[in-house]
Amino acid sequence: MLFPTKTASIVTALLAAGSAVSASSAVGKAKSTFSTSVLSSTASATSSAASEVVSLAQWATLGVTQYPNIFDPNAVDANEVCSGYSLTGLKTTKTGLYGRLKLLKACNVYGYDFDELSLIVDYQSAERLNVQIRPIDLTYVYVLPETLVSKPGIDTFTPFIDSDLVFAYTASPFSFTIVRKSTGEILFSTAGNPLVYENQFIQFNTSLPKGHFITGLGESIHGFQQEPGANKTLYANDVGDPIDANIYGVHPIYVDQRYDTNTTHGVYLRNSHAQEVLIRDESLTWRLLGGTLDLYFFSGTTVKDVITQYVSSIGLPNLIPYWSLGFHQCRWGYNSSNRLSEVIENFRKFNIPLETIWTDIDYMDSYKDFTTDPYRYPLEKFQAVLDDLHANHQHFVPIVDAAIYHPSPLNESDIYPVFDDGIAADVYLKNPDGSLYIGAVWPGYTVYPDWLASGAQDWWTKAMVDWHQKVPFDGIWLDMNEVSSFCVGSCGSQNYSQNPVHPPFDVGNPATTFPLGFNMTNSTDLQYYNSVWYTYTHTPEPSTTASTTTSSTTVSTNPMNTKAPGKGNINYPPYAINHQQGTHDLAIHAVSPNATHADGTPEYDVHNLWGYGITNATYNALLEVFPGKRPFIISRSTFPGSGRWTGHWGGDNSADWAYMYFSIPQALSFGLFGIPMFGVDVCGFNGNTDMELCNRWMQLGAFFPFYRNHNYLGAIDQEPYVWESVAEATRTVMAIRYEILPYYYTLMYEASKTGMPALRALSWEFPDDKSLASVETQFLIGEAILVTPVLEPHVNYVKGVFPGVPDEVWYDYYTHEPVSAGPGENITLSAPLGHINVHIRGGYIIPTQKPAYTTTESRKNDWGLTVALDKAGSARGTLYVDDGESVAVEDFLVVDFVATQGSLYTFPRGTYDVCQPLASVTVLGVDSKPRVVSLGESKISNFTYVNNTIFVSNLQALTSAGAWAAPLVISWV
Ligand SMILES: *[C@@H]1O[C@H](CO)[C@@H](O)[C@H](O)[C@H]1NC(C)=O
Ligand SMILES: *[C@@H]1O[C@H](CO)[C@@H](O)[C@H](O)[C@H]1NC(C)=O
Ligand SMILES: *[C@@H]1O[C@H](CO)[C@@H](O)[C@H](O)[C@H]1NC(C)=O
Repeated sequence: MLFPTKTASIVTALLAAGSAVSASSAVGKAKSTFSTSVLSSTASATSSAASEVVSLAQWATLGVTQYPNIFDPNAVDANEVCSGYSLTGLKTTKTGLYGRLKLLKACNVYGYDFDELSLIVDYQSAERLNVQIRPIDLTYVYVLPETLVSKPGIDTFTPFIDSDLVFAYTASPFSFTIVRKSTGEILFSTAGNPLVYENQFIQFNTSLPKGHFITGLGESIHGFQQEPGANKTLYANDVGDPIDANIYGVHPIYVDQRYDTNTTHGVYLRNSHAQEVLIRDESLTWRLLGGTLDLYFFSGTTVKDVITQYVSSIGLPNLIPYWSLGFHQCRWGYNSSNRLSEVIENFRKFNIPLETIWTDIDYMDSYKDFTTDPYRYPLEKFQAVLDDLHANHQHFVPIVDAAIYHPSPLNESDIYPVFDDGIAADVYLKNPDGSLYIGAVWPGYTVYPDWLASGAQDWWTKAMVDWHQKVPFDGIWLDMNEVSSFCVGSCGSQNYSQNPVHPPFDVGNPATTFPLGFNMTNSTDLQYYNSVWYTYTHTPEPSTTASTTTSSTTVSTNPMNTKAPGKGNINYPPYAINHQQGTHDLAIHAVSPNATHADGTPEYDVHNLWGYGITNATYNALLEVFPGKRPFIISRSTFPGSGRWTGHWGGDNSADWAYMYFSIPQALSFGLFGIPMFGVDVCGFNGNTDMELCNRWMQLGAFFPFYRNHNYLGAIDQEPYVWESVAEATRTVMAIRYEILPYYYTLMYEASKTGMPALRALSWEFPDDKSLASVETQFLIGEAILVTPVLEPHVNYVKGVFPGVPDEVWYDYYTHEPVSAGPGENITLSAPLGHINVHIRGGYIIPTQKPAYTTTESRKNDWGLTVALDKAGSARGTLYVDDGESVAVEDFLVVDFVATQGSLYTFPRGTYDVCQPLASVTVLGVDSKPRVVSLGESKISNFTYVNNTIFVSNLQALTSAGAWAAPLVISWV
């Protein structure tokens, strides 16, 4: 239940009297569609307050209808009507070129043209070329500060001759082309289309070769490839994972993989404004609502090179704490500390590893950050649960919402010190007139931290440090940070006395959907679901919803969206992007573009950076909470560079097969966005899951870096122990995950050093094989492990390809049998429920540790090595070990492994002391049974040879000084 302490039975109260909330500046004609109704309600026994629930009036949520330009048949095409610029006074500089662009003829299509621009070209390194275009007069232009978002700089002085990328141009009308010198290919060219540069609209185009393969441009739920026809809106949005629409994060980067030359390049646009990118058969059009053009071209030449070049220039991801690789359980609806301990105990009872328990907003007192509900989570009880958890080497991560509750000034007992401290430190967003910007989120009316305010960090740090004294959390989950508001504009400004005001939509009803293929007859799921459903007091949904107002086809102009000089029309820019929400108003489910930051910057310029700001502040705060330890954060809204501080989960997906499918392209995309710590809500968030889907998904999720099961408030339980078959499948797969944790952690370390993510597309590892470009149903973990999950109901097989064959050999993880598949052949693998296909690539050595219930205990177990020989009988691998938690790692260990000609060599170096012995070595792909197996001088008698695999065990006595204390040689002849 959502509002139990005060309002248990009335979560679905709908609309307050129209007079209760006055019109904010942003409310326009939608108001006339509002019909008032007042629902009386009863307070629960636990409270004497709130005899009537006030909800936001619906008109306060609709905004002004915007007609997205891309759907407007009468929309003016800027390329048709604009003439562009002419280049003059071009000079060479130490690192490139400088020139001026003069407007040929004004078109003022979606704003007012700038007369004069500067062009700056810098050859920043042998692999990176920067093209900047910006107005000469920057009075009204937002220039993204380097202090806020990293700006790749000039690495070393690079004579132009070293660069594989060459900038070429036509002076009038101005266009430019990026050519790859080594192949002569045109990588990027604006030729044929004018540059349009207006105060609220910037547009440029590049031609693309037919049959292109473009990836990137997030965040959206979409296939991996951005195929012709795709329209990408880049505007941070609080919404539950609609397919193909703008969602939480913004990543203006694309990778262009060219199979005719086997080369790849990347293009990054460093800009924080709302954007749209249209991908077509032979072109890509980029539209921006402001700022400057700050373009970076990365030369590759492999796709892996592009990823590491991009990620190292925006900021390498932080190294995660080791424990965060354990399994995480969450749900919205763990509605008491008792329930929380019950779940923790259940995991133990069913022997399913639980590393970290999470709480959604249930734990808070009326949804206020840094509080605990006195009834459901009484502090002492809650602390006792967390003490037990910590004593068992388990962890706790609570949600922290973005907005801060604004107490009612009419109610003296409505005291919220965190709010008061923020007022004292002057850290909240303002209205243009300097008053507080007041929106609404879960707790009611709220204010919003301004991460550009000078006191914001200290205020936030203090709140975190103080709260940790009471609630000893281990990491933080940042939600609602797009940043979300349930009303349009500063709706609370004249009404906060009526707080708490409740969300204008129905929350927490039993979910009514089931996954594709769910059998409605004779199902235990259904019986369970029915029992939940019928005991719930269901109130009908509100009769009107915002989206119904968008269906009009007669609107073809946007009367509100007028041009204005200077900064322009901030709330209703002349070019309407296809923002997914309701009437497409930029302020729906978001703080309004005219909210104002401490330095005067309107939210319009930096909306896409709000989540980035809170993530940075939280990272810094956690460094104070846990001095010297790596912060663990999972954030919903991200931007280039967020990976330095946070991981990301895929947001509010649905319990359906499609979302399990899309989790793979989303994960691959976040890898190239520099946020490798990624996972989605396994078993699905919205809607009810079922046994089969949850079984498959618990198995798939185990191979993602971030592994968390999370669920919607009104859905049936979906902890993996709810169904015996899911429990069994989970135990099986967790044994694999925890066994290969040393390999996984080594990959996360590599990501933090090079930017190369752990989870990889087949097209990254086998870049010359065009047939792999579209594969998004399989993925690799590092270079060595291939995962082929079942992504549909009612099957006991799965199809998959085995890249690189016949040169490569792939071994079944379970049987060690080599796969027999031809090049490009999509072969059918057996995959009964509870079995996920995993293959090891010949030529690789995987370090392992015996799995235990927690990562802390796993780390104390004996080591093993799985050596998968390639066709030549060789293999290699690496292991990285440290204490798993220090920010500044002093002691670490790197072990290189090489197997060749019947011997395995280990080469340890470093000072981190590992005392556990090496217990076992398994060698796959050995043609004949060896006569002798030895470790150094010692002959080993108890080895077995089955299925071309040598199993050597009980090596502990020979390695009792520690597996990596000294180099080892293990031979089989
Ligand atoms: C993409 O944009 C074009 C206009 O450029 C529009 O005609 C088309 O319907 C859009 N496609 C989708 C899938 O929204
Ligand atoms: C690209 O790679 C493929 C597969 O290895 C090869 O057949 C082709 O010749 C390569 N093309 C170039 C231009 O190197
Ligand atoms: C659904 O379950 C019933 C009862 O077990 C069974 O008879 C029926 O064949 C099932 N339907 C499908 C489509 O699997």
